[in-house]
Amino acid sequence: MKKIIVTSALPYANGSIHLGHLVEYLQTDIWVRNQKMSGNNCIYICADDAHGTPIMLKAQELKITPEKLIEKIYKEHVNDFSDFQIEFDNYYTTHSDENKFFSELIYSKLYQNGDIISKTISQFYDAEANMFLPDRYVRGDCPKCGAKDQYGDSCEECGASYSSSEIKNPISTITQSIPITKKSEHQFFKLRSYEKFLKKWVSDKTLQKEIRNKLDEWLSEGLSDWDITRDAPYFGFEIPNTKDKYFYVWLDAPIGYIASYKNYCDKNNKEFDEDWSENSDTELYHFIGKDIAYFHALFWPAMLEGSGFKKPNAIFCHGFLTIDGEKMSKSRGTFFNARTYLNHLKPEYLRYYFASRLNNKIEDIDLSFDDFCSRVNSDLIGKIVNIGSRCAKFINTDFENKLSDKIKNQKLIDKTLGSLDQIVSNYESRNYATNIRLITSLADDINKYLDDEKPWIKIKNNDEKDSVQDICTDGLNLFRILIGYLKPILPELSSKVEDILQCATIRWDNINTLLLSNEIKKFVPIITRIDKEWIENMKKENEDNSDV
Ligand code: 2FM
Ligand code: ZN
Repeated sequence: MKKIIVTSALPYANGSIHLGHLVEYLQTDIWVRNQKMSGNNCIYICADDAHGTPIMLKAQELKITPEKLIEKIYKEHVNDFSDFQIEFDNYYTTHSDENKFFSELIYSKLYQNGDIISKTISQFYDAEANMFLPDRYVRGDCPKCGAKDQYGDSCEECGASYSSSEIKNPISTITQSIPITKKSEHQFFKLRSYEKFLKKWVSDKTLQKEIRNKLDEWLSEGLSDWDITRDAPYFGFEIPNTKDKYFYVWLDAPIGYIASYKNYCDKNNKEFDEDWSENSDTELYHFIGKDIAYFHALFWPAMLEGSGFKKPNAIFCHGFLTIDGEKMSKSRGTFFNARTYLNHLKPEYLRYYFASRLNNKIEDIDLSFDDFCSRVNSDLIGKIVNIGSRCAKFINTDFENKLSDKIKNQKLIDKTLGSLDQIVSNYESRNYATNIRLITSLADDINKYLDDEKPWIKIKNNDEKDSVQDICTDGLNLFRILIGYLKPILPELSSKVEDILQCATIRWDNINTLLLSNEIKKFVPIITRIDKEWIENMKKENEDNSDV
């Protein structure tokens, strides 16, 4: 049994979870569930990313304290995740005592190593708002490629990261004024001291090709010192032995993974130290979007190395979500919050659909609503779930709910079970789309078997009636295997099936157990087809909200 810690990126506590976020949480949740079905001790950790200027400004706008804001958003996030059947082992917040402790600890270790240096820098200052301007509140032209209207710390066009002082033609997005420059003493993390370590780290890891190329590019360009200080006013942790200086949110955010894990250990009476120690056997995986690879693949391993913690075994990046081929956009009405979706559609549909589109590449994935309806209605319900309802109907009505004591088509059972290793390995390598194709094609074979056997005709013929019990016993056993294969994707639907079939919780080591002579419950509808009108209603709600 392996011990594995898995994280998804921590969502900011200043806004709602949207469908774009869900690509990652669903991708991770499916991966974790597969590990758990394999019997591994896999712990899924996450938290709200509660610090930084956007949260402070949002709270000001709402005339509440940042603490009140993050508390409110925390509850919202937890409900959204839970309603999407995303099951964290711990969901915490970075605004916690544990995170303060680990942030200070890691910082002090880096400080003792001589990795932290002070420099007086000139920074943009909004004289109307009386505050230094964090990178995201300055927009201007990219210093590397010249693209217009880019953020102060990174360019969406060319992917460059830079310091906001390098941006051309700056504007404060808070007051739209031209910022002045003002001096301030900041502390920097000397990332370049870790260049040798990072080069080795990158070459030792199994990383996705695109990420490896990007890292090679960053490493060959040379690493810059990283500014870890933000001036007051700021919502975060104060840097020890300084005044009015705070840790930049990106310093304490990934430390939030450790802090949330510590909180998990304390709540569950588990030992913490061993898992995060340098040579721990516990495996650590971070699921992230492609936009935050720099933080996770450079700063983060360097910070962990410098402070004697365990480094990730791998970082799994995914692409962005597009909706009907377009970038998600509020103005185009293609930006859907998780809750807006849930007001109209079932979580299973999206879990299944995303799985049918996800692989281990960093490609963007598209949610096309036509494709969404057809994959769910025709494949999931029409091909897979239908096997259960077709077969259970006869067992319920004609055989007093009792399954036969034998399997008629052992060959088909063997063939279906024969895909198990492939299925498990595709989950492990994040090739969920391949699994959906495989499961659908197995369902095609099963449906063909049922079509050939024609139980609906045989049931009317006294000589053949008994064979219907055998055929449907085959069908329900095959159905159970398919539903087992889908369990990481559709956990609640699988539980409903386990209940109807009165079978044990399906795991990979018992999926081959056959149900013979069992009594099953009455088959009740476990999922309904998507009505296109529900999608229209969801779009309508989105339009109505965007007017507010
Ligand atoms: O990009 C984001 O949404 C960040 N809140 C992710 C943080 S991940 C981790 F480092 F904490
Ligand atoms: Zn650029």
